[in-house]
Amino acid sequence: MEAFLALQNITKTFPGVVANDRVTLEVRPGEVHALLGENGAGKTTLMSVLYGIYQPDSGEIVLRGRPVRIRSPHDAIARGIGMVPQQFLLVRRHTVAENVALGLAGTPVLFPARHVQRRIEDLGQRYGLLVDPQAPVWSLSVSEQQRVEILKALMRGAEILILDEPTSVLTPQEALGLFAVLRRMKEEGHAVIFITHKLDEVMAVADRVTVLRKGRVVDTVPVARTDKRALARMMVGRDVEFRLPKAPATADGEALAVEDLWTRSDRGLLALRGVSFSVRRGEILGIAGVAGNGQREQVEVLTGLRRAERGRVRVLGRDVTNRSAREVFEAGAAHIPEERVRMGIVPRLSVAENLVLRQYRYPPFCRGPLLDPEAIFDFARRMIAEYDIVTPSARTPARALSGGNIQKLILARELSGEPGVVIAAHPTSGLDVSATEQIHALLLRRRQQGAGVLLVSEDLDEILALSDRIAVMFSGEIVGTVAAGEADRERLGLMMTGQRG
Ligand SMILES: Nc1ncnc2c1ncn2[C@@H]1O[C@H](COP(=O)(O)OP(=O)(O)OP(=O)(O)O)[C@@H](O)[C@H]1O
Ligand SMILES: [Mg+2]
Repeated sequence: MEAFLALQNITKTFPGVVANDRVTLEVRPGEVHALLGENGAGKTTLMSVLYGIYQPDSGEIVLRGRPVRIRSPHDAIARGIGMVPQQFLLVRRHTVAENVALGLAGTPVLFPARHVQRRIEDLGQRYGLLVDPQAPVWSLSVSEQQRVEILKALMRGAEILILDEPTSVLTPQEALGLFAVLRRMKEEGHAVIFITHKLDEVMAVADRVTVLRKGRVVDTVPVARTDKRALARMMVGRDVEFRLPKAPATADGEALAVEDLWTRSDRGLLALRGVSFSVRRGEILGIAGVAGNGQREQVEVLTGLRRAERGRVRVLGRDVTNRSAREVFEAGAAHIPEERVRMGIVPRLSVAENLVLRQYRYPPFCRGPLLDPEAIFDFARRMIAEYDIVTPSARTPARALSGGNIQKLILARELSGEPGVVIAAHPTSGLDVSATEQIHALLLRRRQQGAGVLLVSEDLDEILALSDRIAVMFSGEIVGTVAAGEADRERLGLMMTGQRG
């Protein structure tokens, strides 16, 4: 079948980096084309070139046999190329119809005509994108907002739709719903370019897959003629272990205990409503749930960043309820925060300084009131080696590191003191298979060494791979706890929508 879109020899550089190096890629009508690659491989850059956000340094975009220049997203849309951004661009207080009408030629934005609503309903029926056109966007779930973004693109005549990690915000059931939509789009002759880090998703929904490594195309292959192992090898350049060796649990004694915890969100609403659980030493307790059901507030209360209105928190037998973040850390609880750049590091400080952020006040890093740079750099070099942090040097500012390496830096700092409790929030979100594998190995090693680990994640594969027991949160409560051996995606997915386990 003739390609209706071809990227030919696209090169795009940023100062010091070749993000795309002579990339050639063809997309056919009626296919889902997955784009796979490690963090920093150049996927988002390539799609930004196609969508007119960046101009390539060289190379050509050929659309239906004709070379074109795409100067802006507006240009891209006019040529039938749509993109669903990772951060949705919807106006929250407007309705679905108003948002879809926004920027559509010839329609008033507010109180859009009945025919816009009709078209939303028609398209919704045709593609399985069901949303109420009259609903205000603030009342929609993330997955419904994603549907609105897809509808917006379709209403503007998108024949090629780009989705950049669309499933990272969805429950397993919602992801299946999205895949059904993608299949409908295929049947209607659209092409979809689908970026993901999850190999199962590529196998489930894509027709062909292109793997990028360090800005270059490794290969484009039909999904029917490959498998997860081969894809991982193409991506990383070595074999990846999908099943980490996990020794049987030796859980014994209490590491972390939470009793009847209540707290409020930033907006003053009840975010935790009587949560109780305990994590034993040598055990990983997974907390599964859709974002926004109290997980974030729970981690903040546990790590001293938010006040509990009621209830108790104990770390290694010591009551730390409503103590400061520093006191909680000193009681033995490390924290791998959810927003790694905003909360986990000081971006302008060096890798070495970030590695001692928790301890620079104490020996051996200071002598009296003075810091000891030699001790700090010694320690930093050891951590960089032990945790395999890829950085030009210990003096490089932390902000220059890739996401996976920032995360390894945080783990090195938090785990090097051998904490008895580890509270990890979404430790691998957005990270590629190889960084994910390394972080999982580090968490399992802490468990093996007798720490109690609380693992909060929306990624069920991660929860299932690491946890000994799994608790599911919904609406500020724990709806059930299951032993890992008795848990599967189906059952957990249902509990994530509030059904008691
Ligand atoms: N605006 C920018 N300025 C400078 N460098 C950039 C910019 N955008 C991307 N890069 C660099 O280009 C390379 C490719 O980045 P890109 O975001 O395209 O990767 P990716 O494959 O989408 O990664 P991820 O899986 O983490 O989303 C990286 O080295 C990145 O640091
Ligand atoms: Mg990206």
